[in-house]
Amino acid sequence: MGKIFKFKELDFRFKRGINMKRVTAKAPVNIALIKYWGKRDNVNITPYNSSISITLDNLYTVTTIEESNEFSFYLNGKKQTKEESQRVLLFLQNFASIDEISKINVFSTNYVPTAAGLASSASGFAALAVAANEYFNTQLEFKRLAAVTRMGSGSACRSLLGGFVAWNKTGEVYEITSPIKDLVLISVMIEEKQKPISSRKAMEITVNTSPLFPFWTIITNRDFIDMKHAIVSGQYELIGELTEKSARLMHATMLAANPPILYMKDDSIVIWDLIQRLRSRGVYAYITMDAGPNVKILTKSSHQINILEELKNLGFNTSVVSRIGEGARIING
Ligand code: DP6
Repeated sequence: MGKIFKFKELDFRFKRGINMKRVTAKAPVNIALIKYWGKRDNVNITPYNSSISITLDNLYTVTTIEESNEFSFYLNGKKQTKEESQRVLLFLQNFASIDEISKINVFSTNYVPTAAGLASSASGFAALAVAANEYFNTQLEFKRLAAVTRMGSGSACRSLLGGFVAWNKTGEVYEITSPIKDLVLISVMIEEKQKPISSRKAMEITVNTSPLFPFWTIITNRDFIDMKHAIVSGQYELIGELTEKSARLMHATMLAANPPILYMKDDSIVIWDLIQRLRSRGVYAYITMDAGPNVKILTKSSHQINILEELKNLGFNTSVVSRIGEGARIING
């Protein structure tokens, strides 16, 4: 009896495990050097300004889509409620009919602190787009895939590619070739808490109320062109300066909004201060910050130990060091 039961159990697992349709994709986090902040069109997510990011090698999302008899979405192992799954459900309709979507499970795992300004929604939507394109055999070509991906989250379209990635305000997404290989990004964790205001909402308030917003778009679109040249020609100092300028200007523009949007915490400012001091001593180090209190430091691999030591002296022990990495891809199908 026991034997027969065991056999049946194995047979059942075989059917579920091997014959079940399943696709897994992996997509990296990207950090903008020239920031995207402000939507011209809230439906198609067309930005007011062009942006440039670097793709990170060790922070990413892995997403599996698997055959099932109902739709469920699991984030970091936890089944999400109907409300929490809504954004994913809507997004998937770019790839398949409701009927097809109602027969899948989506498992998404972030290898990065969620919603703490380390852009997990970017890697999340890029992984979901690449997995869905494959699972449903939608076969969107790259240009269309990028346009759909940014509807999930604007910055997600940059996670499709690797290295230095440009997202032009006209919609094109492409890699910028560069001789630079040794840049690293140190992400200093200040808080892992969910951010108090989503970047989506904060962006809308900034566009509608910040008197600095018109300056932001004009200056950023100019800096985008300068940054592209700096990357192509390997001008480290200019890359660093434009990176820090973009973060400063974005946060100043947000702060001028009504109500003001302030993501910085005291610790963010302490690190900002440290980096200015290190730079005056000849260390290659530039700050950037997104929609959260965590600080990212752009540096060279040869300077990273020095910076990590200085951070430790000030009590900042949780940092992640990332190199430039590859774009999104299917890891099994
Ligand atoms: C500060 O791409 O998260 O990280 O399009 O509303 O989803 P939505 O916004 P999102 O904004 C990212 C803003 C940023 C800067 C950047 O990554 O360019």
